[in-house]
Amino acid sequence: MGKGDDAVGAVGTWCVPVGDAPGRVEVLSADERTRMARLRRGADRDRFRTAWTLARQVLGERLDVAPSALEFQRICRGCGQAGHGKPALVNGGRWEFSLSHSNGYVMFAVSDVGPVGVDLEAASERFVDFASMVRAPGEEASTAEELLWLWVRKEAVLKATGDGLAVPMSSFTVAPFSWPEGSARTEPPTIIDPGAPPGYRAAVAVTPIPATAAR
Ligand SMILES: CC(C)(COP(=O)(O)OP(=O)(O)OC[C@H]1O[C@@H](n2cnc3c(N)ncnc32)[C@H](O)[C@@H]1OP(=O)(O)O)[C@@H](O)C(=O)NCCC(=O)NCCS
Repeated sequence: MGKGDDAVGAVGTWCVPVGDAPGRVEVLSADERTRMARLRRGADRDRFRTAWTLARQVLGERLDVAPSALEFQRICRGCGQAGHGKPALVNGGRWEFSLSHSNGYVMFAVSDVGPVGVDLEAASERFVDFASMVRAPGEEASTAEELLWLWVRKEAVLKATGDGLAVPMSSFTVAPFSWPEGSARTEPPTIIDPGAPPGYRAAVAVTPIPATAAR
């Protein structure tokens, strides 16, 4: 496994080159293999396999069960439908996880202190084009690097809550932190810089309350 395994408190992160999968494809469920087979590009299938064999290995170790025995579900926070949205363990107890892919890497985060979200992005000048999408009123970021910094932190927060990009990044601030107007959440998330390969930026966010309990 191309390393990470950085424990920051009770949050662990791994950043793995695609293809450097710790487990065999046989550990994936029938549903995961179907999802993988539906991906048209070989690179996307490799990325999926890397992410989900890693997820199963790490979570299997945490729960002390065989990686292939783990069950996951996805329920969309926006429409309530099953089959898409943030993946979660079935009978996972306190264990929460999140994953992100970017080009040649997969980043995975696991937490037992609250819902977690991770985002990994390749640095690019294109982030200046996303300024109005990322910045909330009053937030000062104008260079590609500053906007990328905001992007990864905000996407990590939205992946921790399970909202994903259905909630606009421009509806909340990260420094200082404020939830979107109308949110029932009060306590800010903890946002961690887990480090990233050269040319990439990443963030991990952990929310203090269950994502289902509040908006
Ligand atoms: C989730 C989302 C932020 C991912 O963005 P991205 O930068 O393209 O992708 P990343 O590589 O960082 O993350 C992808 C992973 O996030 C996870 N994920 C998917 N939906 C998620 C959600 N709502 N919250 C948290 N994580 C989610 C999955 O594990 C996914 O990988 P997988 O499909 O291989 O399992 C974005 O696709 C999104 O917001 N989608 C949902 C939009 C929505 O809610 N629409 C309404 C539908 S009714």
